[in-house]
Amino acid sequence: MPDTHQTELKQLLSDYQQRTEKALAHWLPSTDIVPVKLHEAMRYSALDGGKRVRPFLVYAAGKALGAELAALDGAASAVELIHVYSLVHDDLPAMDDDELRRGKPTCHIAYGEATAVLAGDALQSLAFHILAQDRQADISAGNRLKMIDALAIASGSRGMCGGQAIDLNAVGQKLDLPALENMHIHKTGALIRASVTLGALSAPAVEEQQLKQLDHYAKCIGLAFQIQDDILDIEGDTATLGKQQGADQALDKPTYPALLGLDGARERARDLYQEALASLSDFGAPADPLRWIAAYIVSRRY
Ligand code: IPE
Ligand code: IPE
Ligand code: MG
Ligand code: MG
Ligand code: MG
Repeated sequence: MPDTHQTELKQLLSDYQQRTEKALAHWLPSTDIVPVKLHEAMRYSALDGGKRVRPFLVYAAGKALGAELAALDGAASAVELIHVYSLVHDDLPAMDDDELRRGKPTCHIAYGEATAVLAGDALQSLAFHILAQDRQADISAGNRLKMIDALAIASGSRGMCGGQAIDLNAVGQKLDLPALENMHIHKTGALIRASVTLGALSAPAVEEQQLKQLDHYAKCIGLAFQIQDDILDIEGDTATLGKQQGADQALDKPTYPALLGLDGARERARDLYQEALASLSDFGAPADPLRWIAAYIVSRRY
């Protein structure tokens, strides 16, 4: 990516991170309200951390189709809350048993396991409440329903939860490439796809063909995102990642580098990046941020 685009991306990432933080802070229940500990755990997990890649995708997809930023805040918050819930549960002792997340103790270390389970549950419910209730967005009732459905499918047993179930069942086993890809497409890809779909459905108008092209773009970068996550588990360092490096190897998780080697995994991520760009060939300059974030996803260091 040329330096000028790097600078633009950095600025946009920062702008959208701030927007997301503000929107989340607004929607998350205050810690003055009972049950205080649950609300503290929700805010602790959701605020002040994370790259906010999924909200970025909501904003970038919506803007590519002419949506106003204010119309996208609700969807950006909703996808991030589902993501945060998935992280809180992913870190539990019953799953990956991790103690560090976004540079802080994981939710169950800070608040206990029972509260972490409930915080994840409540973050998930809040996401759907926002999609149903957000009055800032002038989105038709029909599109709102489509958005709620897309996020529900992406989060459930045919999306993220299903992928997490495959991940847990696959520990210590050798998956072949199609099975590994299927796991990644579900556990991480589904929510990334939903982020782009929700952004597009928040726009004043979107054609079926545009939705399909954006969806193919999102499918490619969703898979590439998890491949890069697997690579960083080997190549990254704990301080930069804000989570424990080497956690996959310690648990004998099936990963891309484990199956294809680091070079093979990098090559697959690069191919997916090119395929993602090709899916955007009918879109003009307003889709540039989608192109930049695709490059970031396969080159990021955390
Ligand atoms: C980590 O996601 C978990 C995966 C789905 C790979 P991110 O790398 O987006 O984590 P944050 O949100 O920046 O902390
Ligand atoms: C997590 O995958 C996918 C989720 C649905 C949370 P990982 O287990 O690889 O995510 P990290 O590495 O803990 O962030
Ligand atoms: Mg996991
Ligand atoms: Mg994990
Ligand atoms: Mg990982």
